[in-house]
Order: sequence, then C-alpha cells, then structure tokens
Amino acid sequence: MKLLFAAAEIYPYAKTGGLADVAQALPKALSHTIEVRSVMPLYRFIDRKKFKITPHGNSFSVTLAKRRYRISLHRGFNQGVETLFIYERTLCNRPTPYGDKNGDYPDNNLRFGIFSKALVKIAQMYGVDILHLNDWHTALAALWTRESLPYFRTVFTIHNLAFQGLFPRETVARLGLSSAHFTPEGIEYWGQVNCMKAGIAYSDLVTTVSPHYAEEILHPQFGCGLDGFLRLHKHKLLGILNGIDTALFDPQHDPALPHHYSADSLQGKKQNKETLCRELGFTQTDAPLFIFIGRFTQQKGLDLIIETLPALLNTKLNLAVIGEGDPDMGSKLKEVAGKSDNLWLFQGYDETLSHKLYAAADFLLMPSSFEPCGLNQLIALRYGTIPVVHRVGGIHDTVADYEDDFSPDICGRGVAIREYDTRGLIEAVHRAIQLYNTAETFAELSGENMQCDVSFEKSAKRYLECYDEILNR
Ligand code: GLC
Repeated sequence: MKLLFAAAEIYPYAKTGGLADVAQALPKALSHTIEVRSVMPLYRFIDRKKFKITPHGNSFSVTLAKRRYRISLHRGFNQGVETLFIYERTLCNRPTPYGDKNGDYPDNNLRFGIFSKALVKIAQMYGVDILHLNDWHTALAALWTRESLPYFRTVFTIHNLAFQGLFPRETVARLGLSSAHFTPEGIEYWGQVNCMKAGIAYSDLVTTVSPHYAEEILHPQFGCGLDGFLRLHKHKLLGILNGIDTALFDPQHDPALPHHYSADSLQGKKQNKETLCRELGFTQTDAPLFIFIGRFTQQKGLDLIIETLPALLNTKLNLAVIGEGDPDMGSKLKEVAGKSDNLWLFQGYDETLSHKLYAAADFLLMPSSFEPCGLNQLIALRYGTIPVVHRVGGIHDTVADYEDDFSPDICGRGVAIREYDTRGLIEAVHRAIQLYNTAETFAELSGENMQCDVSFEKSAKRYLECYDEILNR
C-alpha cells in the first residue's frame, strides 16, 4: 500500500503546534508496515542545508482559475521517512506558516489552495492508494480529488475543529472552484467558504485525534458551529488517539537532559529538578515544580491560570511557563513574573528547554478548555511528571484522577480539575501538593505513569485497518 501523508507543518522542519509532532510521528510508525511519503510546503525559513533538502524531480504547475502556479519539488528524509517539499512562491515566501502579528495572512486561501491542488497532482505522480490529509490547509484536495479522480481514496484528520479555514465568498472564483460546491452540503458556511467542510464532505473517512473528542464535536459546546454538519457525516467519523514518538521523548536517552532516568530509578529526575531550579533562579528548591508548556490561548486555559496566579503564587510552589501566543496574556504573565520569585517565564518556542522542563517537573498544568487530543499530557506521563488536567477531549481518554476507581482503558493517572473555574484549579493544585507531600504514593504514581504505552504503534495499526477498509469498499 502506498500512502501520501500531507500536512502544513511537520517537525522538525516547521512547527507551531501538535500537528507538526503527529505529522512526524504517525508516518514514521506507519512506515514500518507500508510505503509512506510525507509532504509539506518548503517555507523559506526552513534550513535546506541543515535538513539536507535537495531538488527532486521535475517542476510542474497547477492551475487555479486559469492562473498557473509553478511548483518545484524537493526531498529530504525525516528519520527514515521520505518527505517531499512543495515550493511555490506565494505559498512559501513567508517568515511563518500562517500569519504574523497582524493576524493570518489574508491570502491563505490562495496559498493553501495551491498546496491542496499540488497534493492531488503529487498523489497521482506517485500512484498512491491513499491520500491522508490533515486539517483545513489540505482539505480542498479532498474536493478536487472527488471531482477529478473519483477512484482515489482520501482520509481527512481533524486536529482542531477551531481552525476551519474561513474565507470570503470570492474564494470560489479565486481558486477556480466549481460553484456547485458552494452549497450548505458542500463548502458554503454562512455565506463564506469553509475549507474544513470540504475535508469532511468529500473524504472517504474523517478521523479526529481521540475517541472522546469525536463524540464531543457532535454537540454544540465543542462543535465550533459544525456539529450539525458532523452529525450528518457521523457514519464516517472516527476518533483515533494520537501517540508520541517515544524515541524522541525518552528520559533514558534524551540528549537534552543533564541526567537520565527510568521508571525503576527516579534519581536522575530529582537531579534534573535541582539543576533546573538553580538555572531558573528558584530559591525554594524543595517546593513542588509545576510547568505549563504551550500556546498562550484560551484553549490551553492560560486565561484561567493568569486569573488564578495570585492565589497560586501565594502557595509554596514554583511555576515555569514556556510558550507564546496571545500578546495580552504574554504581557500579563511578564508583569507578574517580574514581581515574583516563584514564577519563571520564557516567551517563545524552545524544544530543548521544554524537554528539560518535562524531565525536571513534578506536575504539568494542563487546564485546557477543550483539547482534541493533547500531546503534553502524554509526554508528561512518559517523563514521570504528574498531569494536573481538565479532562476534556483526548485528556479524558488518557488521564484519570488518581483518587478515582481504576479504569482499564485509561493508562495515565493524575489530578483532575473538577470544576472549570479558578476555585476548581486551586483545589486541584492543592490536591497535587498533598500528593507531592505523600512522597511514596507520589513516586509510585510517577513510575507507573512512565510505563504507560504512549507510543504511536497501537494507533498506527488502527489507521492501517482503516486504510484497508476504505480500499476494499
Ligand atoms: C492540535 C490540537 C491538539 C492535538 C494536536 C495533534 O494542536 O489542539 O489537541 O493533540 O493538534 O493532533
């Protein structure tokens, strides 16, 4: 079986969120069984030399609304997985994938229209059996495939329903889409073009990244306006849990860590904590260390953390925050960090630093308001860091409260935030600290969590079964 796996970002070439991690780890896991190629745009900020990306094959062009766009193809290898890169000026000549401080680039419809059209051509060139699309940036490929290559099979994975690729109606003409698709059953959404709807309507199978999120998005609270549309396509919607690349995230061998450790001996984790606390300037090194890693958004619950900060920082704990996003949230955090000796902040994205944080921390704070899957809690489990979580979406499928009855389907255990408000968060943090003070239970839980299977192997099998199933229809 030949698979083409398409995403707008793939780690380590470009990453703004979990999509990039999954787009690296899943194809790698699949490549043990089938022939897989990944494909993404060759943004101009990608270091071609460092990643050994070279020109590959002939260039070609795609046509959108009678305009031709010249595309050159490049190639690299990502831990053994052949990765194709599409270079086209409008798509790639940007300092970041999606936008800058003024918001999303206004021509993202054209940019990812070009990307999606090119995907169809590449799938044909390589004679693939399945085109696996991820998120709205690739979704129009499902529509064009259905139109011109009806025998072709497509899978569309929703990583986050909150980002749908909404554009003005003129997009239909600009991308040369047939107006027959501009209907409520197709890509029309309150008078606009909704790219995600194309992925849902025209793919053979729609997956999302956890079983619980697949249920949640059928209801208005989590459906982001598409719950009705998803209910219509429920028969082809499936939740498959993400995993992580356990070779990249491995406390026994992680090159980012000063001290390695395993479930049998957590000594190295203690040493990592001491080293990091000293580096970050925390004076009370015996206090529990909490971390937050992620985008500064309401989705990740950073607004709730900020609101709760005065109470949290009044407690004997240290909190290290790393990430970026909403500038208001960033400046509020910065202001508080400047005045507190138990809050440390790094605004930006630093893979090595985040590995160090996972390895050093006692607790990961993850009060997401919604979470399609969430990878941070999986990384935390792997590093023996207890997750303090709001059990929504994929978190519900992966972390149970340590005081609740054991449930065989959920491997990880942590502390659940019972009520989603400041009181609920404070209560959970206090329970976490109690747990920390019961050293034996704490160490036991941490060691058990490290033995959970958070790899992509099980889920890759599930994807393979799905590919088989749609090919044999
Ligand atoms: C998005 C979602 C996150 C998920 C990731 C990978 O970033 O917000 O929950 O884990 O995609 O699928």
